[in-house]
Amino acid sequence: DEFKYHICCMGAGYVGGPTMAVIAQRCPHIRVCVVDISQTQIDAWNTDDLPIYEPGLLEVVKESRGRNLFFSTDIDSEIKRADMVFISVNTPTKTTGIGAGKAANIKNCELCARKIAEVADTPKVVVEKSTVPVRTAEAVRRVLATNDRGVKFQVLSNPEFLAEGTAMPDLQEPSRVLIGGMQTDAGLAAIQELVDVYSNWVPKDRILATNTWSSELSKLVANAFLAQRVSSINSISALCEATDADCSEVSRALGYDPRIGNKFLNASVGFGGSCFQKDVLNLVYICESTGLPEVAEYWNQVIVMNDHQKARFTQLMVKRMFNTITGKKIAVLGFAFKKDTGDTRETPAVFVCKALLEEQARVQVYDPQVKRSQMFIEFDYTCGVNKDNTPKLEESIVTCEDAYSAADGAHALAILTEWDEFKTLDYQRIYNNMAKPAFVFDGRGVVDIEVLRKIGFEVYCIGKSRPKYSLDSK
Ligand code: NAD
Ligand code: UDX
Repeated sequence: DEFKYHICCMGAGYVGGPTMAVIAQRCPHIRVCVVDISQTQIDAWNTDDLPIYEPGLLEVVKESRGRNLFFSTDIDSEIKRADMVFISVNTPTKTTGIGAGKAANIKNCELCARKIAEVADTPKVVVEKSTVPVRTAEAVRRVLATNDRGVKFQVLSNPEFLAEGTAMPDLQEPSRVLIGGMQTDAGLAAIQELVDVYSNWVPKDRILATNTWSSELSKLVANAFLAQRVSSINSISALCEATDADCSEVSRALGYDPRIGNKFLNASVGFGGSCFQKDVLNLVYICESTGLPEVAEYWNQVIVMNDHQKARFTQLMVKRMFNTITGKKIAVLGFAFKKDTGDTRETPAVFVCKALLEEQARVQVYDPQVKRSQMFIEFDYTCGVNKDNTPKLEESIVTCEDAYSAADGAHALAILTEWDEFKTLDYQRIYNNMAKPAFVFDGRGVVDIEVLRKIGFEVYCIGKSRPKYSLDSK
């Protein structure tokens, strides 16, 4: 072909797809091919019904697809022709065996390295894009070195910092690009090769080169710091509710201190997403296995607090609804782990819904981007709740076309994702069609509490003072 430089990316998921779409957009002189073992995933990338929902993604894909951006299952040929191979496969928490429930499984990364070693007949730069335990590059390097054709590889660490829902701007104007490699001549040359790709659109002062292990570890630590921030503000949200302080006012006051910064201080029903819990647990596991139990325990508290926040939310719901929700209809608004994504991995909505179902409530869910089948996959994965072992799950969860039908006849609304459309719903109309007293439990700080209280709702919001009734002990 006419291209002088070829990139292959193994793994066409939330990271591989958008990342490569932006590289292709910004580097029209480079041929980029994303490969995957899943034929359905690749087929979807080749239609306009992409396998993931991410604002702005389709436009960027359409700009380059068929020009210098391709999606294929022909993994061997694409590796062969590539100068640079990204590994962007999933690295989930292990569910069984050593480190179960904490350690990240890098099986898929190793399989990619084995595949590259098996088929490559020219030297390549192999780039770890997946989030991995520190020192994974060593395993990748050793597997690659087993090839019997004497092909030389360089392994780089280039973790991805995009957040879902804002992946396109995050990739187009990244806060930084981190590249780790061996501090040898060949390692530094490989780093430069990747710098040359990013330099096509990223300012040089945002491209940070470092050694491999610092790069791998920085990714875990960045997510641990972010998750810790959410757990910290969530811990304070409980204190605010107990003292009539307003958590968003506390966040505002904190945010003016430039040392603290004003981002990522929104109290919530708990953090979700495929990364935070997995990466914090991975960090905890690494600390444990390097003989640092106190450090491990410190970071583990981030998870403990998040679990507490999710549990606290449903406990409040049950308590306020006269200690019983058996047979009551609860409208769950939002199922994705945050707005502007259809991703449900580790979403707090699963925990809340599970708890509601255990109380034998009837759950009526509406999310603008999550399909019913996806919700059930998530139930099955996260808590082993599925059709077989939770009687009547199919009947107990009703999925709705919009917020109004979800709220129809409901005793309560539980807002679990901060979709913008929930801010502008016609709450009077919703109120009119609900059972009374009509409760609102806002886990995302979405609603205007005063407006809703005027309508007649009994409103509870994370981090806000609660309405006082004679039931209250204080
Ligand atoms: P994903 O599950 O959406 O996609 C992974 C893809 O890899 C799947 O389509 C799977 O079929 C494919 N795959 C698995 N094994 C393969 C193999 N041997 N060969 C070819 N393809 C294979 O995962 P994701 O969310 O894109 O995450 C990928 C990595 O990036 C993870 O390590 C994750 O921690 C990290 N990460 C994710 C995010 C995020 O927001 N999702 C952000 C930063 C980093
Ligand atoms: C995160 C990191 O932000 C990103 O850099 C990394 O590459 C992948 O992991 P993501 O999980 O996609 O990204 O979304 P993020 O915006 O970080 O939100 C994670 C969770 O925290 C969501 O459930 C979100 O609702 C919650 N959150 C975030 C809060 O509850 N409060 C906040 O103030 C911010």
